[in-house]
Amino acid sequence: MSTPQTGIFALGTASHAYLEFDLRASADGRALVSAVAGLREPRTTMGGVNLVAGFRPELWSRVAPAEDVPPGVEGFNRPLVGSDGYGMPATQHDAVLWLSGSAYDVVFYVARGAIATLGSVAVIVEETSSWAYQHDRDLTGFIDGTENPTLFDAPEVALIPDGEPGAGGSILLLQKWIHDVREWESQPVARQEQVIGRAKPDSVELEDRPADSHVARTDQDEFGKIFRRNMPYGTVTEHGTMFVGFSADQRRLGTMLESMAGITDGVRDALTFFTRPVTGAYYVVPSIPAIRRYLSS
Ligand code: HEM
Repeated sequence: MSTPQTGIFALGTASHAYLEFDLRASADGRALVSAVAGLREPRTTMGGVNLVAGFRPELWSRVAPAEDVPPGVEGFNRPLVGSDGYGMPATQHDAVLWLSGSAYDVVFYVARGAIATLGSVAVIVEETSSWAYQHDRDLTGFIDGTENPTLFDAPEVALIPDGEPGAGGSILLLQKWIHDVREWESQPVARQEQVIGRAKPDSVELEDRPADSHVARTDQDEFGKIFRRNMPYGTVTEHGTMFVGFSADQRRLGTMLESMAGITDGVRDALTFFTRPVTGAYYVVPSIPAIRRYLSS
């Protein structure tokens, strides 16, 4: 399989930063891809930082040769509106850098360097920092990631297969959700479990999970498999979940969102009554060889 960006699969890192950029009017897409290809991260075990780079699908398909472009992938260009008017905003940008490491100091340092390096071609427009909460819980208090594929299976789920255009690349959905903490925490645990569809202490799936539970609305047996790297983010008074989902096929991510919004059958994900997305963007995360083409240009 064509070598993917390895940070996609680097579990266990406690500190993260998501940096989204727009191209400067004076620069072109190729210059942005070249500048990203030239970024250098520290490479010691503890001081090292994982760097994952992605591009607006339309920008990548303009710049890259056909063999590196997964066909039919589109940016999050229009808001997604459910049958009852519930909306998910479209806040597509031109590029994303996702940095993750053992501690925030190294992530902060590398993020500052990356923003400076890209400064002549792109401007940073969205920045979110994330940190681990109670080992593997999201800020609803539930364990997040239980139904993820194992690291042996994840590449097959997340990466475009060899022989197809864009092989070794992935499609990323990055979506920031703000939780309505007061409303969520006013629910008894038994109600919260019905909303998620899993038990709160140990994430065991409920035998009689409701049809509007989150795990029913995103059931991977129905929509196809994805690999999630969600993280908590925010401040004490305003916080939520950074949804970070990778798939070999954009449709899996898109149909999950439609299902959550109730577009498919009018049933809205119960979780969406307690949390709302404030950003939403898709990025093509090319393989390493596809990015390295731009090193010397
Ligand atoms: C505030 C936003 C979100 C929160 C707090 C959240 C939290 C959770 C939790 C606690 C679980 C159960 C444990 C697990 O399997 O990981 C779960 C499952 C899942 N979530 Fe989310 N999630 C959010 C948004 C999303 C979005 C936007 C998508 C898809 C685009 C998604 C896709 C999934 C999938 C595929 C599963 C596993 C379903 C299965 O059992 O097959 N989630 N999520």
